[in-house]
Amino acid sequence: MSEWKPLGLLEMTPLNPAFRDDQHGVYDRLRSQCPVHRDEMAGEFIVSRHADVRATLSDRTLWRGADHAEEAAFLPRSIIAQRRNPEEGPKSILFMDDPDHARVRPPLAQAFYARVAKFRPDVEAIVDATLAKLDGRDGFDVLADYAIPIPIDAIAAILGVDHDRLDDFRTWSEGVIQSLNPLRSPEQSKAMETAGAALEAYILAAMVDRRRTPQDDLVTDMVRLQADGAPLSDSEIMYNLISLLVGGNLTTTDLIGNAIWLFLRHPEERAKLLADPTLIAGAVEETLRYEPPVDITSRIASRDMEIGGCPIRDTQAMAFLLRSANRDPDAFPDPHRFDIARKGAPHVAFGGGAHICIGAPLARLEAQVAILKMLQRFPDMRLADPDALPAWRALPFFHGLERLDVRTA
Ligand code: HEM
Repeated sequence: MSEWKPLGLLEMTPLNPAFRDDQHGVYDRLRSQCPVHRDEMAGEFIVSRHADVRATLSDRTLWRGADHAEEAAFLPRSIIAQRRNPEEGPKSILFMDDPDHARVRPPLAQAFYARVAKFRPDVEAIVDATLAKLDGRDGFDVLADYAIPIPIDAIAAILGVDHDRLDDFRTWSEGVIQSLNPLRSPEQSKAMETAGAALEAYILAAMVDRRRTPQDDLVTDMVRLQADGAPLSDSEIMYNLISLLVGGNLTTTDLIGNAIWLFLRHPEERAKLLADPTLIAGAVEETLRYEPPVDITSRIASRDMEIGGCPIRDTQAMAFLLRSANRDPDAFPDPHRFDIARKGAPHVAFGGGAHICIGAPLARLEAQVAILKMLQRFPDMRLADPDALPAWRALPFFHGLERLDVRTA
């Protein structure tokens, strides 16, 4: 029998058939045989068990910023190499460390959470308007026609994008998503840069405008907090508002798409949900556990440490396999069963600790409304081709469908 070798981080993408065709077989073996190991090619430690992932992500003393990583760490180094201005440090909370992270995230979170708390009627209106466009059609693509537009329209409403700029905003939103695609073509890179520059200019102009004429939106909240003494620069506000867009669109799209796909494949769970719509919150959590939209997150060791007995030195990088942790049998009995009434351990789809996803409450709200309303509106919805393999997108480290064709008549 040939010796089993764990796959490296860069081999665990849908571009590699050995991974694509047996993803959970790969994760199951990693957790049981090699739960923490050093991938020399990527220069990362790979952590796959739920207990190790949860405990390490909760450690607020670890670093997130790429600049702390040793030279051998491929992903942090490529983030630095892609910066437009090499002198510039991170402006987005995604890659900030304390004390900056503890300065910038709280006012942003305060304003954003207050908006999300009163946003349900707006989400319902956005979902209803998107559903109305599907009326009278025998079939459609759940991604293009539903799961993609909803999160873009939701974040546009939170930011207060002017109606006459909504189409531009949608184009820019799709353009900046390319920043998540390491394999983008030259045309996609160009579109990304054009969209990024247009968005930056738009948000900066909106900040100037809201200082003069306050509105009921997040841009106004942020410039008001700044005027009241929150220690935020204009560019920090601007980059973090754009981060909400980049962090929240594709991920929420994939959560909605993955959920609809799961319900079409699990008619008994769909019937359970339709019989008792109060199960929707649990159904979204189970989708986040079972098919989470983000594969990995990362930290950098701020001291010599160990995980599960494996020594890790200061400045070495760690990648946490969220999708593996979410199927760990030590945390979730019968982990490969999709069960919307499941109780027990929390999933790690949103990461953890100081950097836990700031957008989680919005993603949950959008997904709960969008999934339930779609399943209720189309009780006879089915896969257009029940025998076709799911069309997973080839984007590394994100997990969602390229398209999902359904029939409703
Ligand atoms: C299902 C949808 C989503 C998933 C699965 C997801 C997943 C994640 C994950 C795994 C992280 C890293 C956490 C860590 O390292 O501990 C993260 C961070 C982040 N997410 Fe999300 N996200 C989603 C939706 C959103 C939304 C809707 C927004 C904004 C509106 C958003 C904005 C962000 C931002 C700004 C961060 C960085 C937070 C920080 O570093 O302090 N995400 N997300």
